[in-house]
Amino acid sequence: ASALPSNYKIRALRQADYHAGFLDCLRVLTTVGDISEDQFAERFAWIKKQDGSYYVLVIEDGEGKVVGTGALIAERKFIHNLGLVGHIEDIAVAKDQQGKKLGLRLIQALDFIAEKVGCYKTILDCSESNEGFYIKCGFKKAGLEMAHYY
Ligand code: ACO
Repeated sequence: ASALPSNYKIRALRQADYHAGFLDCLRVLTTVGDISEDQFAERFAWIKKQDGSYYVLVIEDGEGKVVGTGALIAERKFIHNLGLVGHIEDIAVAKDQQGKKLGLRLIQALDFIAEKVGCYKTILDCSESNEGFYIKCGFKKAGLEMAHYY
């Protein structure tokens, strides 16, 4: 696994990350909206309750600011003998921190968790413009994404 810059840490999301730039970090990915601290707390508590199937990681810089994030959901299936499938979601690295291997480090950490909890594969959806990044992370193209928006 590649090393983080010195002083940077990778760890599980905390409630206090509401004030450490977690939502701003996600804004490099897509629209986040106006989320109050209470709303954040409620969603955070729900995620924590999904013991063993929902992991949100962050990378904090030397000042404790969240500069990267990513999630793994371990989906419990009936097929493949009650197999588990890992889903990597919402990978985001702050604009001014991109290109320092933080994204790679997040994927490696999420992949490690997926394998450790027993997933037989991990999948994700991304745009064509990110294909090269995921190839460098060891993923390969498999299938086609379809979506139905409501
Ligand atoms: N296309 C091709 N190669 C890339 C790309 C890209 N878009 N981005 C990074 N790489 C390469 C890097 O050059 C590096 O290659 P090297 O090892 O030869 O030097 C390698 O991939 C690792 O790059 P990192 O430095 O770890 O990438 P970074 O920390 O900048 O994170 C990320 C990449 C997450 C895509 C970041 O640019 C980002 O947050 N983008 C905006 C949000 C986004 O698109 N997130 C992904 C959505 S898909 C999902 O969430 C499942």
